[in-house]
Amino acid sequence: MYCNGMSEKRRIAVYPGSFDPPTYGHVDIIKRSLPLFDKVIIAVLENPSKTTALFTPNERVNMLKEILTETNETKLITFKGLLVDCMSNFGANVIIRGLRFVSDFEYEMQMALMNHSLDARVETVFMVARPERTFVSSSLVKEVAKLGRDISPFVPPPVAKALKEKFAI
Ligand code: PNS
Repeated sequence: MYCNGMSEKRRIAVYPGSFDPPTYGHVDIIKRSLPLFDKVIIAVLENPSKTTALFTPNERVNMLKEILTETNETKLITFKGLLVDCMSNFGANVIIRGLRFVSDFEYEMQMALMNHSLDARVETVFMVARPERTFVSSSLVKEVAKLGRDISPFVPPPVAKALKEKFAI
C-alpha cells in the first residue's frame, strides 16, 4: 500500500546553487539525480551573498542552457528570496545537495535543518560527489582561470570559453 502510494506521487526535486560558474561537479550531480526524481528543477540563486558573483544571473543561466538538454524531466529557473518559498511555487519538496568533503557537511546540515523548519514538507537529499570531482569547486576554478591556467578538465566547454573571455586569457 505504502509502496503503491509512493509510486503514484510525482517527486519534484530542486537542485539549487549559485552556479558561479557551473562545473562538471554540478553536471554530475544533475545527471545522477535525474533517474531518482520525476522532475529536477535547477534553481540558480540570482544574487549569491557569500561572494561577489563573477557571472550575472543571465550568464549563469545561459551557460547551464548550453550545457544541459532541457527535457520534460528538467527545468531551469532563477530565484531570489527563500528557497523553500520558491519550491512551493513548483510543488517541489526535495532539495538535492552535493557533498564533497566532511567539511561541507556542517553548513549543509545547518541549511537542511533550517529549510525543514521553515517548511516541514521539505527534505534534503545529499549526493556524494564522485571522487574525481571532489576537489572541483566554482571558486577554485575561477581562481585557476584568473591565474591563466587551463580549466577545461573541470568545466564544460561553454564555461571554459566564458571564463577565458572574463579573464581575457
Ligand atoms: O552553490 P551554493 O552557493 O552553495 O548554494 C547555496 C544556496 C543557493 C543553496 C543557498 O544559499 C540558498 O538556498 N539560498 C537562498 C536563501 C535561503 O533560502 N536561505 C535559507 C536557507 S538555510
